[in-house]
Amino acid sequence: MDWTHGYVQSIDYTHHYCRELSPSLLDFACLSRGISTNIADRPLEYLELGFGQGLSLNVHAAASQGEFWGTDFIPAHVANARELAAHSGARLFEDSFEDFARRADLPELDVIGMHGTWSWISAQNRAVVLDLVRRKLAPGGVFYLSYNALPGCAAELERSQARIRDLRDLERSPRRRWLSGQSQEALGRSQACTFA
Ligand SMILES: C[S@@+](CC[C@H](N)C(=O)[O-])C[C@H]1O[C@@H](n2cnc3c(N)ncnc32)[C@H](O)[C@@H]1O
Repeated sequence: MDWTHGYVQSIDYTHHYCRELSPSLLDFACLSRGISTNIADRPLEYLELGFGQGLSLNVHAAASQGEFWGTDFIPAHVANARELAAHSGARLFEDSFEDFARRADLPELDVIGMHGTWSWISAQNRAVVLDLVRRKLAPGGVFYLSYNALPGCAAELERSQARIRDLRDLERSPRRRWLSGQSQEALGRSQACTFA
């Protein structure tokens, strides 16, 4: 097994903001089910696993009180996310979940969040995540897990497939050489979208 445990790492993930990971929406979601959390309006120890380009984590770190931790094992993602973290104060690591879970300096966590990642990772890595949650989630804390599903993403899927068709046509056109760099990059982005 390679270092990614089968995770697709040849294409960088898209820049995506997940508002459901924000502390206030998590608190609201729990309240709407009659569950009172201790995560509203106070400094938090917050962790996002598999933060991708880091947009969500950096926005939440900039807008909330506390320490915002995150890990993602793709170096290009972490490099992009660190540019924002220089302003947001998020603590970003380039560790695999397995290595990150072994850190001795991890505090008890009020929130552990993970979007769009569970359905991509191996059973072994899922077990690592669950073990981290069991050991490190504070009493009254929140574990949030979500992933994109076809009913909600059908419109975006259609748009992505149309973009891929357009780019493939472009690749075959006489202007191919001139457009090649940009179109390859855009094709990669569209493909990443179709299997999010
Ligand atoms: C599909 S992306 C989702 C990114 C982000 N959560 C979002 O919604 O934009 C999954 C992310 O998890 C990271 N990842 C997958 N397996 C991992 C592992 N074992 N350790 C650390 N990061 C991992 C990938 O590098 C990737 O950035």
